[in-house]
Amino acid sequence: MCGIVGYAGGKRSVEVLMEGLRRLEYRGYDSAGLAVQLEDGGFEVLRRVGPLRELERAVAERDGGFGLVRAGIGHTRWATHGRPSERNAHPHLGNGGRVAVVHNGIIENHQKLRGDLERRGFEFRSETDTEVVAHLLSERLEAGMSLPEAFGEVMGLLEGTFAIAAISADEPGTVVAGRRQSPLVVGLGEGENFLASGVPALLGFTHRFLVVESGEMVVISGSEVRLAGPGGEPVEREPFEVEWDAEAVELGGFSDYMSKEIHEQPRAVRATLDGRLGEDGVVDLSEVGLDLSGVRRVVVVACGTAYHAGLLGKYYIERYARVPVEVAVASEYRYSDPIGDPGTLVVAISQSGETTDTLAAVEAARSFGGRVLAVTNTRGSLITREADGVLLTRTGPEICVAATKTFVAQVVALELLAMELARCRGTLPDERLQELATELRLAPERIQNTLELVSCSLEQAVSLFEEARCCLFLGRGIAYPVALEGALKLKEISYLPAEGYPAGEMKHGPIALIDETCPVVALFGDGVHREKTLSNVYETMARGARVVAVAPPDDREAAQMASAVLPVARAPEAVVPLVLTVPLQMLAHGVARERGLDVDKPRNLAKSVTVE
Ligand code: G6P
Repeated sequence: MCGIVGYAGGKRSVEVLMEGLRRLEYRGYDSAGLAVQLEDGGFEVLRRVGPLRELERAVAERDGGFGLVRAGIGHTRWATHGRPSERNAHPHLGNGGRVAVVHNGIIENHQKLRGDLERRGFEFRSETDTEVVAHLLSERLEAGMSLPEAFGEVMGLLEGTFAIAAISADEPGTVVAGRRQSPLVVGLGEGENFLASGVPALLGFTHRFLVVESGEMVVISGSEVRLAGPGGEPVEREPFEVEWDAEAVELGGFSDYMSKEIHEQPRAVRATLDGRLGEDGVVDLSEVGLDLSGVRRVVVVACGTAYHAGLLGKYYIERYARVPVEVAVASEYRYSDPIGDPGTLVVAISQSGETTDTLAAVEAARSFGGRVLAVTNTRGSLITREADGVLLTRTGPEICVAATKTFVAQVVALELLAMELARCRGTLPDERLQELATELRLAPERIQNTLELVSCSLEQAVSLFEEARCCLFLGRGIAYPVALEGALKLKEISYLPAEGYPAGEMKHGPIALIDETCPVVALFGDGVHREKTLSNVYETMARGARVVAVAPPDDREAAQMASAVLPVARAPEAVVPLVLTVPLQMLAHGVARERGLDVDKPRNLAKSVTVE
């Protein structure tokens, strides 16, 4: 949570900082701010509460431009310590205003540090944990240390997780940064260099990046990048290239990123399958570099939408490979007493690759010697460095806070894993594997058909939510995790209480919610126990529910019974959850837009959660 950005070089710093913040805004939008070094040796600091547009307005309204600016830092905030206010907005200044700091993460010992600093005469202006860093730095700068020296010493005093960037008025043209767990990358330019919480922030300026490992710090100027290890020792590291182009993070004619990313799903699935599925049905996951033949058990750890993908993964792995699968919410798993042995494969799913709880769950799984496979969308992310093997979903950057295209790509990646496990264990005949490969290859087309079908019928379904005060999503078997994901999408972006439930279990509780203000969204399709689901839906109708049926267009009975239909392409079992997901994403999007909400930046949420 929170995004940080830094620039050194003097060509265009305010532009880079603002563009970087724009692309990091998904990480938090409670407030935003920047600090730049001015020609006269001072700082200019601008901070505004609310989304980035408030800061943009402040920048635009500033008289006379910024003049020559040699370096700067910026921040977009997801509040942890101290409510959103201008006082709590970053950057924070040290005593005397000669040093400015931005921070992502939580400094766990900030109260003790704050008490000590107050006793030494420092005055605090905010309630944040970050401000201690600004004062600790200024204390050392006043004692004659350089910014990199002071920074290295202060990092050693901090407990918790952080990525911090700082500038000093006395060291023009230099930004110093460091991290522990929270993400930070260096972007390499010509005569200018950059820092950011994530690669997408800098794609408009460079495609060459350098990883900063946990515990390291980095000093950037226009001409130089110096990495140092925890003891101050210089570190040499090769840069890496990122293929994503800047257009991938533009709207390209769509009204919002969610809509764009929903429509990119056929491409996301195709890219994730590309080169991994031979004509003969043989899955090629050699890139993962893990020998899967000894796998006796699988544990999936993940959060949010990725957890739902994990539930679908369980279904496919158990069905194809006959290996027992446990799917655990990472924030719970990390504090459990995990059971396993070296024959357990731990599959950690994380779009961002930086969710703190998922990383901690991976660490917990290490206690029994399990090998870790990361399924992630982010090359070079923290999880790729923790894992023994990596399976990338290749969707391109996902900007909308609510995950869409990365979910379907995760499911497809897990299906490939299930097929590969089945092949290694000999649990499916070659012909069946070939069939599955053919089915999966159809997925992009079926998703595309579904997008087109739903577009024409969404309005009626959305209208059922005008007076809604809650909503139930019902599915059985493989449609049940989809129901959970549909409910999550609706909650996240329309703020409507929603529950996903196994259709058969609904009569043991949620049925009490049913009346005409609680629409029921029911999932039908091949292999999802259609008849049984139908009976359950009739039970809700008998209690006044209005039903949205998500079903193939030729399912007459589902259509007749329902107040609205969201049609999906008919699809085989390997593709059913993918096509059922699409209408639920579009429904959530439609309901949220109808309520006038910002679908890309739902309140209180952040795209990647780098705190516990
Ligand atoms: C946050 C996001 C969700 C996401 C979850 C896990 O809660 O708002 O959309 O599913 O984190 O994120 P990850 O990057 O680990 O997949």
